[in-house]
Amino acid sequence: MNITILGGGGFLGRKLANRLAAEGKLGGQTISSLILFDLAAPPAPAGAAFPVHSFGGDLAELPDGVIPAGTDVVFHLAAVVSAQAEADYELGRRVNVRGTDAVIDACRKLAKPPRVVFTSSIASYGGGQSALLDDSTKQMPGGSYGAQKAAAELFLSDASRRGFMDAVSLRLPTIIVRPGRPNKAASSFISAIMREPLLGLATDLPVDDGFKVWVASPRRAVEWLIHAATMDTSAMGLDRSVNPPGMSVKIGEMLAALDTVRQGASSLINRVSDPALMKLVGTWPANFNTARASSFGFSAHEPLLDVVRAFVEDDLAPTKAERGIA
Ligand SMILES: NC(=O)c1ccc[n+]([C@@H]2O[C@H](COP(=O)([O-])OP(=O)(O)OC[C@H]3O[C@@H](n4cnc5c(N)ncnc54)[C@H](O)[C@@H]3O)[C@@H](O)[C@H]2O)c1
Repeated sequence: MNITILGGGGFLGRKLANRLAAEGKLGGQTISSLILFDLAAPPAPAGAAFPVHSFGGDLAELPDGVIPAGTDVVFHLAAVVSAQAEADYELGRRVNVRGTDAVIDACRKLAKPPRVVFTSSIASYGGGQSALLDDSTKQMPGGSYGAQKAAAELFLSDASRRGFMDAVSLRLPTIIVRPGRPNKAASSFISAIMREPLLGLATDLPVDDGFKVWVASPRRAVEWLIHAATMDTSAMGLDRSVNPPGMSVKIGEMLAALDTVRQGASSLINRVSDPALMKLVGTWPANFNTARASSFGFSAHEPLLDVVRAFVEDDLAPTKAERGIA
């Protein structure tokens, strides 16, 4: 099985590459090669029993060889994320829309249509805190990133209908706890309120304790990506998008879980007001009925406390090392 990860140097791309390297198989089939692509050539995962080729470049000008003949699965994770796409309209359109178009063009050249797993986002919906969304809810995003993701989903569904690829788009929840440093996603604070106190650092919280968020863990997101790459798509019909079963949690519940794992850690939270950010994240829905994803076999989410403990287990030490924290 020949696999390409676009955005292979990012947070989820690296986790996915590490998982593929550790298992050596995808859907029971031995992995023959892995291509990683990002703005800068990503490092190969440790311990891979198959050849790994890394390329650096711009998704919108996708270099030849990133999706070569014989590619079976493309994970399309490369993106300009929410707050950055809102701040820089041209860049967001270039990468999130034209970049996805370049992926379609590369797949059209292949003799056998590959499975393409695309990471869309719940930011492709509006509705805000009070909405309960189901699989037929119309996408009406409150920001350019969400609009670009929704547009990309449609292009990929149409490319599947035309037989250029066999796409599955996952509208991912906000993934917590993101390791490393704060990033340019508007949702950055949702991870920061867990990660920074566990590092012993103070951080800002721009919403109140009752604010609800639709979240998933990195472990669960990688499970879903792998499932999307290997599932039977024959029952999907024209609709190639799925809302995987994340969980709805209140900020107050997150802080309580944080304190359970590290007593008193939430005292490092500074409550601040950020009206511009609130305007964007306030449009994101936090409650979904995910019946369709369950019918396709996407696994249910683990409890919140496990998510915090998994961060400590998987990512706390590497994050400390990356940031030079003793
Ligand atoms: N992490 C989340 O909470 C979350 C939630 C919903 C959806 N998503 C989506 O999941 C995917 C992965 O998210 P992530 O958290 O790993 O993001 P990330 O920012 O860590 O990774 C995205 C990668 O895309 C790369 N990239 C950006 N522009 C590029 C270009 N022009 N050419 C090539 N590569 C480019 C970046 O360098 C980065 O490494 C993204 O598509 C994101 O929109 C993430």
